[in-house]
Amino acid sequence: MAEAQRADLPADKAERYRALRAEIAAVIGGEPNRTARYATVSSLLAEAFPDRFFWCGFYLVDPDKPRELVVGPYQGTLGCLRIPFGKGVCGTSAAERKSIIVPDVNAFPGHIACDSRSNSEIVVPVFDAADALVGVLDVDSTQFDAFDAIDQSGLEAICADLLTTP
Ligand code: SME
Repeated sequence: MAEAQRADLPADKAERYRALRAEIAAVIGGEPNRTARYATVSSLLAEAFPDRFFWCGFYLVDPDKPRELVVGPYQGTLGCLRIPFGKGVCGTSAAERKSIIVPDVNAFPGHIACDSRSNSEIVVPVFDAADALVGVLDVDSTQFDAFDAIDQSGLEAICADLLTTP
């Protein structure tokens, strides 16, 4: 995991997300492979926010079990391999097709504790160009209350570009 924030990105969080969004679009543009896109996003996000992003990566809809998420590319400690729709924060986000911020995971009914060091999280759904759910972006922090509306809009913008950038 990266230790220090990238000095070449803006210090302001909203501006940092804007710069990252442009950088990610430039890197993934022209790349048809989805795994390459997911891996690029998890790496660049983890490196941009090392203090808050303890675990950062994707849970993807399993083509063989459409009501189940299976772990995809991520940065961080060992994650659970599978999460059914409706379970935990990721499964709830997938079932409801909406972003969820959890300031204290211990207070979220059914939270799945892959690593007990995680204390708060944000989960953002990812859709393809046809608006089908392909998975979720899960970011977990050791800090409580680590995510706010700026994180939500920044991550939603990046996820919206993920499979729609040509
Ligand atoms: N926190 C997630 C589980 C996945 S991991 O923590 C990597 C959840 O409750 O959905």
